[in-house]
Amino acid sequence: MSTPTAFQVALSFEDGITRFIDCRPGETVADASYKARINIPLDCRDGACGTCKSYCESGSYDGGDYIEEALTDDEAASGYCLPCQMTPLSDLVLRVPATSAAARTSAAVHTATVTAVERHSGRVVGLTLDLDDRRTLDFLPGQYVNITVPGTDQHRSYSFSSGPNQRAASFLVRIVDGGAMSGYLTERARPGDRIEFTGPMGTFYLRPLTRPALFLAGGTGLAPLLSMLEKLAQGQGQGQGQAPVAHPVHLLYGVTTDEDLVHLDTLADYAAVIPGFTFDHCVADPASRARNKGFVTGLIDAETLHGGDVDIYLCGPPPMVDAVRSHVAALGIAPAAFHYERFAPAKETAGAAR
Ligand code: FES
Repeated sequence: MSTPTAFQVALSFEDGITRFIDCRPGETVADASYKARINIPLDCRDGACGTCKSYCESGSYDGGDYIEEALTDDEAASGYCLPCQMTPLSDLVLRVPATSAAARTSAAVHTATVTAVERHSGRVVGLTLDLDDRRTLDFLPGQYVNITVPGTDQHRSYSFSSGPNQRAASFLVRIVDGGAMSGYLTERARPGDRIEFTGPMGTFYLRPLTRPALFLAGGTGLAPLLSMLEKLAQGQGQGQGQAPVAHPVHLLYGVTTDEDLVHLDTLADYAAVIPGFTFDHCVADPASRARNKGFVTGLIDAETLHGGDVDIYLCGPPPMVDAVRSHVAALGIAPAAFHYERFAPAKETAGAAR
């Protein structure tokens, strides 16, 4: 396999903004950041002070030379690293201990054209965009952007339902009475409309699959999990150069009424192509035609949680996050990781992803 000319390094800042830079083999992350005009925290640049200490979420690298005072062996073993010394051996995702403003950067602005407004049901609309320059848009599956509602000065946050390598960018929007984006999508939106968004943002993104995973979606919280599944379908859930999915991934999708259920066919398509991927759904409405009535917690037991050897990814409204937390604790199980994104669909709260 030929050596790539550059690795992609995602710099995830404390305020949730992510910037992507190219880093050539042998080049330090600090040098690549400097070339991209991103001022990650640096002092000695020599592996002596520890100022640049960051956390590597995924990928492999050569840690370089440094002294124990800058980075202890225990820290290095648990994933901490020094960008002033490290050189990537694969694409990386780094958590940087600074805000994007402190690093003199900000979320990127993207412009696009609406290509489809698809009414999946009376309450859920799919929005698809064609980027003016797709090459400038990088994101991690699970992340969101802030979209300016056309014709207004209002912004709403939506997670990508599309995968990072797909040409089109797509989103799921729950229709709410009086919502700015809801009004646009149901009354005015037409293919050809111009639209702008900033991002990507958020720390809710797929990490390398090193154990079984449980995906939990509440309503349009399905969107970021679809993006993750698209990545897994491409065999890219384990980090660069690793084998296709080797751990089971189970998705539970909970909605309020039958009308909220969307993309079951998409999930079935993913189940056919992702080894080890299974899913189920439930509907809270007692009058539902669904086999499972109630909440996702009714479908979570010790077996679903693999006795705790599981990474949970949950995107849903705050009561769902709290209910799942309590339910898992009541089972006496502590999951290896619990990644979650809350959103408040009724208010279309800015800054919350769905
Ligand atoms: Fe001092 Fe990296 S800047 S250790």
